Amino acid sequence: MTTTHPTYADIQAIVADDFAIMDKQVFGSLNSKVQLVMSVSKHVIDAGGKRMRPLITLLTARMLNDTQSEQAMQLAAITEMLHTATLVHDDVIDASGLRRGRPTANATWDNATAVLVGDYLIARSFNLLVGFNNLPLLKLFSDGTCDIAEGEVLQLQHQHNPQTTEEDYLQIIDGKTSRLFMMATKGAAILQGRDELLAPLGDFAYHFGNAFQMIDDVLDFVGDAAVMGKNLGDDLAEGKPTLPIIKTLEILKNNHSPDYDTLRIAVQTGKVDNPAKLIDMVRECGALDYCKQRALQETTLAQQALEQLPANQYRDGLYQLTTLASSRLV
Ligand code: IPE
Ligand code: IPE
Ligand code: MG
Ligand code: MG
Repeated sequence: MTTTHPTYADIQAIVADDFAIMDKQVFGSLNSKVQLVMSVSKHVIDAGGKRMRPLITLLTARMLNDTQSEQAMQLAAITEMLHTATLVHDDVIDASGLRRGRPTANATWDNATAVLVGDYLIARSFNLLVGFNNLPLLKLFSDGTCDIAEGEVLQLQHQHNPQTTEEDYLQIIDGKTSRLFMMATKGAAILQGRDELLAPLGDFAYHFGNAFQMIDDVLDFVGDAAVMGKNLGDDLAEGKPTLPIIKTLEILKNNHSPDYDTLRIAVQTGKVDNPAKLIDMVRECGALDYCKQRALQETTLAQQALEQLPANQYRDGLYQLTTLASSRLV
């Protein structure tokens, strides 16, 4: 007998009805009277994306209480709206041209339009959140959104800094990535008044988010742009000290390799004469294996946190999602 691992579609199918409703709500909840806001939002939202954060919210909500909840679906849609806003802003900051297989908003329109529509998406998310009339939920999302913005600013501060440490990196990804995962899980528990589960849910999402970003940063060196729907190799070109780069610098330095200065200067100046050579350095020195190991450790910690939560098919779905993300079949 062969055991087949569940695919992303299999996990979505666990909450298929909720997912379909949520998916419509992501765009359906936008009601701007300004046509440009609607066109830019539609461009990004219609391009797809995995909808992983709302999937996490829906699975968490059902894990805690197995009934269809309008509020949970709405909250899931809001997490995707916020995520979309961060991507629209991120593509301006990173000067990226491709997202979800389409030209980015900044490339299709311009930076100003992308920044302002990203702002609108955040504002509209909060507009919808106020409708829950739930102050703890609003606080979770407002604190979390500040943390996300701070994570991106911290990253900007470390750009072109080859002294950036793994600890700095963890602080950056905690904000820019893991925080929203935490909002996606804890929000579902707050809706149900299950405060006693906030700690394990937070642990789960924090470690899952870390693993997810670590793998994303590995894929920047070894992924397939067509599969990812975004251009790869950007982190190096931008002098963004992600974990693969931090680790490569460390290894080259410890080995007294002459390549150390080449990479250090490339990160510092952002001038990359021979990108293929630098990419090979990262690929060949063992740094990516280290990053994959770290991602696996984070995945294990996420999975351990799940043990403190109700055992059912929805919890299994969350577990499978972390396995998929760490092997990055998602
Ligand atoms: C991209 O997130 C940003 C990161 C945290 C790496 P996703 O990979 O979930 O992007 P979409 O939503 O599927 O496009
Ligand atoms: C993603 O960061 C944006 C946020 C998490 C807010 P990255 O810049 O690392 O991700 P991609 O590679 O553009 O998706
Ligand atoms: Mg980016
Ligand atoms: Mg990236």
